[in-house]
Amino acid sequence: MSKPKVIVTRRWPAAVEARLRELFDVTLNEADVPLSADQLKDALRHHDAVLPTVTDALTAEVLGAEPLRARMLGNFGVGYNHIDIEAAMARGITVTNTPDVLTDCTADIAVTLMLMVARRAGEGEREVRSGHWAGWRPTHLIGTKVTGKTLGLIGFGRIARALAKKAHYGFDMPVIFYTPHPPEDEVCRDLGAKPCASIEEVLKQADFVSLHCPGSKENRHLIDAERLALMKPGAFLINTARGDVVDNDALVRALKNKTIAGAGLDVYEGEPHVNPGFLELENVVLLPHMGSSTEETRAAMGLRVVENLSAYFAGQVPRDKVV
Ligand code: DGY
Repeated sequence: MSKPKVIVTRRWPAAVEARLRELFDVTLNEADVPLSADQLKDALRHHDAVLPTVTDALTAEVLGAEPLRARMLGNFGVGYNHIDIEAAMARGITVTNTPDVLTDCTADIAVTLMLMVARRAGEGEREVRSGHWAGWRPTHLIGTKVTGKTLGLIGFGRIARALAKKAHYGFDMPVIFYTPHPPEDEVCRDLGAKPCASIEEVLKQADFVSLHCPGSKENRHLIDAERLALMKPGAFLINTARGDVVDNDALVRALKNKTIAGAGLDVYEGEPHVNPGFLELENVVLLPHMGSSTEETRAAMGLRVVENLSAYFAGQVPRDKVV
């Protein structure tokens, strides 16, 4: 029996590419250049499965490719807002993602951003590297204490809960959160986390607001100028979710006018483009979408796609089936 024909849209960890070569008739993207819409359509016409990631816009137009051969999209990543899920469903395409394996590393990046922005670590690093450090003094680069401050989470899924655990047990932080789907009391008790009735309530009380809701049409600009204005003047906004959950222009204004103290961002509206307003500001830490970027996690994500693909081609329901 011939092996299923699959195509990977970007470079993957070497061990995972090797595993894919063993199991499938695989086309790799050694140049690691993102595919154009036409190339994605071609991929859908000529392979049984396409393995995309966040940089591939699988719009209804692209998924309308004819004649369609692909019946499976094994996404490398937990977020799938770049895939038009309704269009995939309409075309009978199975979509899977990679939850669980990136939870801790993404929560760790949220911690990194909290610490970096509150303790002005980016500014300090730039100062040392530029040769402008004049030595220790009591009034130098004074930041904000993190330990004991209130962490507010918008969304309370896996990554938010992992962050709650690290913040509560590691930094003694009271945790509050808003989710439309509150968990059982026991979960909250274990994480020292208190549910709030609304996003607004979280924004008004938290010293650090961290976003953990999916990217979607509904969540676009969930944090807009009006909501930013509810945050305390000393509070920080952390975004490791998706860039368009925040109105980036409004955030630049809030940071410039110091109506909030700072922000730590790993994701951007229209990335890799970054709103130039951010680049002029010292009170924002900017990371290049690296929440899951560890050796261990990227390999685990790839192997999770392999597991989903293998199940799909064995006629089983893949464990991470989205639709
Ligand atoms: C994820 O897994 O969703 C990362 O943001 C990369 O897509």
